[in-house]
Amino acid sequence: MNVRLWLSVATIALGGCATLPAPVADTSAPVLVADAGAAAANVAAWPQARSPSAITDPATEAAIGALIARMTLEQKVGQLIQADISAITPADLERYPLGSLLAGGNSGPYGDERGSAADWDRMVREFRAVSARPGADGVSIPLLFGVDAVHGHNNIPGATLFPHNVGLGAARDSDLIRRIGAVTAAEIAGSGIEWTFAPTLAVPQDLRWGRAYEGYSSDPAIVADYSRAMVDGLQGTLVAGQQLANTKVAATAKHFLADGGTEKGQDQGDAQISEAELVRIHAAGYPPAIDAGVLTVMASFSSWNGIKNHGNRTLLTEVLKDRMGFAGLVVGDWNGHGQIAGCSNTDCPQSINAGLDLFMAPDSWKPLYESTLAHARSGAIPMTRVEDAVRRILRVKYKLGLMDGQPNDRGNHAVVGAPEHLAVAREAVAKSLVLLKNAGSVLPIKPGAKVMVTGPGADSMAMQSGGWTVSWQGTDVTREDFPNGQTIWEGLRDAVGEAGGTASLSTDGSITQRPDVAIVVFGETPYAEFQGDVPHLDFTGDGETQIAALKAQGIPVVAVFLSGRPMFVGPELTAADAFVAAWLPGSQGAGVADVLVAGKTGTSPRDFTGALSFAWPAGCEPDAATLFPLGFGGNYAAAPTVPMLTTECALSAAGADGGLALYDRGLEAGIEAIAAGTVFPNLAGRVQNLTVAGFDVAAQEDARRFTWTGPASLALGWTAQPLPATGALELQYQVADAPRAPVTLAAADSNAKGTVDLTASLALAAGKGWRTMQVPLACLTDDSQLDGIALASDSAFVFDMVSMRIVAQANETDCTGPF
Ligand code: BGC
Ligand code: BGC
Repeated sequence: MNVRLWLSVATIALGGCATLPAPVADTSAPVLVADAGAAAANVAAWPQARSPSAITDPATEAAIGALIARMTLEQKVGQLIQADISAITPADLERYPLGSLLAGGNSGPYGDERGSAADWDRMVREFRAVSARPGADGVSIPLLFGVDAVHGHNNIPGATLFPHNVGLGAARDSDLIRRIGAVTAAEIAGSGIEWTFAPTLAVPQDLRWGRAYEGYSSDPAIVADYSRAMVDGLQGTLVAGQQLANTKVAATAKHFLADGGTEKGQDQGDAQISEAELVRIHAAGYPPAIDAGVLTVMASFSSWNGIKNHGNRTLLTEVLKDRMGFAGLVVGDWNGHGQIAGCSNTDCPQSINAGLDLFMAPDSWKPLYESTLAHARSGAIPMTRVEDAVRRILRVKYKLGLMDGQPNDRGNHAVVGAPEHLAVAREAVAKSLVLLKNAGSVLPIKPGAKVMVTGPGADSMAMQSGGWTVSWQGTDVTREDFPNGQTIWEGLRDAVGEAGGTASLSTDGSITQRPDVAIVVFGETPYAEFQGDVPHLDFTGDGETQIAALKAQGIPVVAVFLSGRPMFVGPELTAADAFVAAWLPGSQGAGVADVLVAGKTGTSPRDFTGALSFAWPAGCEPDAATLFPLGFGGNYAAAPTVPMLTTECALSAAGADGGLALYDRGLEAGIEAIAAGTVFPNLAGRVQNLTVAGFDVAAQEDARRFTWTGPASLALGWTAQPLPATGALELQYQVADAPRAPVTLAAADSNAKGTVDLTASLALAAGKGWRTMQVPLACLTDDSQLDGIALASDSAFVFDMVSMRIVAQANETDCTGPF
């Protein structure tokens, strides 16, 4: 059963191009158009828009035409491909004339996730210099470089980090958004980069979606308002025949379309909705972005009524390019083309034919370049389509000033984290706070007060910053990554001190000196993309017990809730005297104190102005009633009225079957890899004889590749898990390179019971693709708990794993295998 289930997943993700989609109308040329027409749309029902003529001025169009006429087919096809810096070197560009590069959330310059602005700048220049070298034909086309600067230039420690979009939505201030765009652009450009994959124009309708915090609001009107402001801020005003200022960058309206409208809020899922709803809700941000001149649009991983957007010609071409008049380039999302029926990561003419212009092919770029070249030669991708895509890409390059013989005059490193930028972020934090409760006017904190600050989020840069911070999921950041920031505790400490009071941080909630008031900062821990999808909205993290313990001692409590979305917090809201939704404020924690703490003479602090941009649920089920409506938010003049609260989350038993997941879809449940005494953060790293690296199977970086080049033992550890009486450790794995020496598996704790020899099983599995292995737990340990396993070999061997679980044992216990 498991095996079959697995295989079906693998087929979708890995299946080659064996099955081509249904033939299309034009039979004269073998053009593959994925899913065209299947989502019949009434294009006339969509809003109209138009990219400004400043993008398509006649002189530039003529220059582009002349250039295209001189380009070889290889150069044209190369323009359509974007690789990730983790999978390409500058030397590769001598042979493969790619048009673009990106740095994904886990990629940094020279393999360093914590590279400085100067490192980024140098790396981009190195790559660009190769691409800009004229070929034999004299054609030279510098590459276009993009990053995810989604809440400030979040890849660089020390850059200005803003609240994530959910918080900005609450600020209801489009002028602020424009200034945030300008600051973000200046810092991106300051590191030598000219393109950001932002803003996200999702209109999230189901808060279980782990990317809900990347959206400004569930209200299309707010998204539309901010969309124009953010594009203006990032790009500035476009002028015909002029390149963008060197403090400006290209923006990306993403993800087209209805990424926030999928069933159950599933990431990369299916929006099963009518066309009218698509237009009314999810399209709202695009026309203003296009009218403002947004230079790029990113296709969504998700589907509309079963059809992947990356292959939906109606949406990408007829709606976006024709009806909405978008003249810039459409970039794909991370191997998103590979999810189209009949495509793989390395072969997908359907997507270009549907209207994609630039494939995001992080690790798949080389074979994708070859296959795309072959399809362009055979006519499976018509030359008109190739040249239209090239033209759109070149338009963006011209506008960015890359083509004017002096590429990259960006790179003023000093602006990254500039004080005036940090001030904008601090203002944004203050404006994003939403007051939900203030019983007995416990807020603002009075001058001279003794304040205890506690809770897991009080002194945690990770919790206040969320995903897309330094790394993709944002889980591995430390205080040192934010030299220009303050934690919420640090901000409160300073403000309380300035007002003549005393503040103390109690990490465990214990009280040394009885405070006048306690501030408990708690909430969600960082996540991004599908790793943040949840089955229900019950907040289950730490917080409630601390609030209750303080209240039991008669201490007034202010709850500050950090989260990427409204959640069911009935018990916490009931117990605390005041409750502030602070979202994911980013690096300027002092913005919280600006609103919470009164000045020395009792002067009121800045008042709350934030208003919910999503409704707050009264229960934890998706259909829960609303507790606080969208638009709700109290202030000091008008204390909010809290409706009757439910403290119980009545979850209908959902029940996970399939055993206990230790590792699944990249979700690590606290799992750690250790070899030669070195811990591999995010299960990636290298020590002598062993490399651990992520790669894509059914989702981004859901699998891990363990490569032995000599003797090494790899321990995979997790927090101890109770074992079922008869259970087995189940691995979904493949052997990419057969072992040359015995491979053993053992429990990695003190109760290890001998080792299991996997050599025969792995030899059998070598080269046969994905398989399931079950090793009875009784072969590994006598204990009732297991907190790790060790996999060892003395010689070369490549083992890939996509999931590891503890399941009910299917067969009799046999410790000799094969497994
Ligand atoms: C995300 C995009 C992002 C891209 C590049 C994808 O997984 O969905 O939002 O821009 O990766 O990092
Ligand atoms: C993210 C990238 C990230 C990758 C995994 C993608 O979905 O968008 O930025 O680096 O997955 O590493």
